[in-house]
Amino acid sequence: MDELLVSEGRALKHVQVREYVRSLVSGSAPGSPAPSERELVHRFGVARMTVRQAMDALVVEGLLERIPGRGTFVARPRRVASRLTSFTEEMSRRGLLAESQTLLARREQAGPGVARALSLSEGDAVIHWRRLRRADGVPMCLEDAYLNEVLIPGFLQSGMPTSLYDALGARGLRPTWAEDSITADAVSEEEATLLEVEPGTAVLRHSRRALSGEKVVEVSRSVYRSDRFTLWVQLGQES
Ligand code: GLP
Repeated sequence: MDELLVSEGRALKHVQVREYVRSLVSGSAPGSPAPSERELVHRFGVARMTVRQAMDALVVEGLLERIPGRGTFVARPRRVASRLTSFTEEMSRRGLLAESQTLLARREQAGPGVARALSLSEGDAVIHWRRLRRADGVPMCLEDAYLNEVLIPGFLQSGMPTSLYDALGARGLRPTWAEDSITADAVSEEEATLLEVEPGTAVLRHSRRALSGEKVVEVSRSVYRSDRFTLWVQLGQES
């Protein structure tokens, strides 16, 4: 019984350290140093082995990377062939013409989630741009993009473009890499009306955090009609 409690206790500590490090580094630029093992041992009052276990898990997950002789860092993007594409490019690859209908475009104060993802502080100014994206006139997806206002001064005043990534590109900020996550879900009532589907229809929820070099330029949430959209990914082996 005692043994069980001890091993459970260690497991919890390891998870605690791992999640602490995750929250600390998520939003940090690739290549920034991870907290040192010594620091973590001191902060949590745990064995070095427990800290090592927590860090190992994050290395395996791809969030951190170890550079021999230098230490542990926030992982830099791996050289894989997955393509970072915009909606406009995705549609043109399918031979369709992308459209962009602005539903909302305004300056807002970043909430905690958006602030963390954009590497900003809560309350900092962000641009919230909500769009209905059509392809050849058919609603495909609803997109909420949050942009760091400081990086793109005058964006709201210069007329909303069709392609966000082209507009960022014109400012030297075209996203060069991104983290995406995709989940399946049912459409909400409001989304169903805009996407012109039956309530309860399956959709793909897509979140993206896009960087240009080391600057986080966009975080977005998109809702794709699953009857119209197939996620297409190109993969390669690291050389
Ligand atoms: C995709 C991404 C969005 C991004 C958009 C840009 O849909 N999921 O995060 O904002 O592309 O597309 P465009 O350049 O056509 O505006």
